[in-house]
Amino acid sequence: MDIEKNIEKIRADFPILKRTMSNYPVDYLDNCATTLKPRQMIDTVVNYYTYLGANAHRGDYEMSAQVDFHYEEARKRTAQFIHAASEKEIVFTSGSTESLNILAMAITNQKLQEGDVVLSTQSEHASSVLPWLEAGESKGVEVRFIPLTPEGKVTVENFLSVLDEKVKVVAIAQVSNVLGYEAPVKEIARICREKGILTVIDGAQSVAHLPVDVQDLDIDFFVFSAHKMCGPTGIGVLWGRFALLE
Ligand SMILES: Cc1ncc(COP(=O)(O)O)c(C=O)c1O
Repeated sequence: MDIEKNIEKIRADFPILKRTMSNYPVDYLDNCATTLKPRQMIDTVVNYYTYLGANAHRGDYEMSAQVDFHYEEARKRTAQFIHAASEKEIVFTSGSTESLNILAMAITNQKLQEGDVVLSTQSEHASSVLPWLEAGESKGVEVRFIPLTPEGKVTVENFLSVLDEKVKVVAIAQVSNVLGYEAPVKEIARICREKGILTVIDGAQSVAHLPVDVQDLDIDFFVFSAHKMCGPTGIGVLWGRFALLE
């Protein structure tokens, strides 16, 4: 009974669940693609459009200053959420896809040379592989794939089997959107740190389900999307170590 009451309470937070489809109540199971939006989030967005409206960091009047305040509060909370060293390490983007595109282009252009290798896996989301292939093509940077176990897992052993001195970046998901397995990011990042290899971790499927501490993981970049964690569509995060962002 308690469980039923709890479910009722949670369902009440999601106005969309009051609608029906073909006369049946909606049971939504596609949360890995995008979550439904709770009333609290919708109210906050509507409150912005209704009572704030101004741009962030673009005006010298009270309404604009109020937007600046909320914007920077969101940046602080985001930093705390993933245990970033500073809110200066949080860059807001339109989502994981844009974050990954920015990183692939910037890192390829500024850090990689012909013959360098970016390690990906055979189960990455397209948005984590295609930008590296695209950015690397003109520069002669190879994208190499970490093989998966027969069950589809990324292991340290398989990572080591394709690691050589040409590898300069490892760009993998913390949790796969294909099979849901968690990659051993901390162990892989430790090896990468020793060898001076950059780590770009796609947290689109992990951050809503695991406690993420980017400092403890000792990674270099981490990305995620708000719409997969009950937040608004069109907002994402690119976290990077401050020195690297600079
Ligand atoms: C693992 C993973 N990476 C990246 C993305 C892209 O996220 P977005 O569509 O929010 O940019 C997704 C979306 O499904 C995903 O599952």
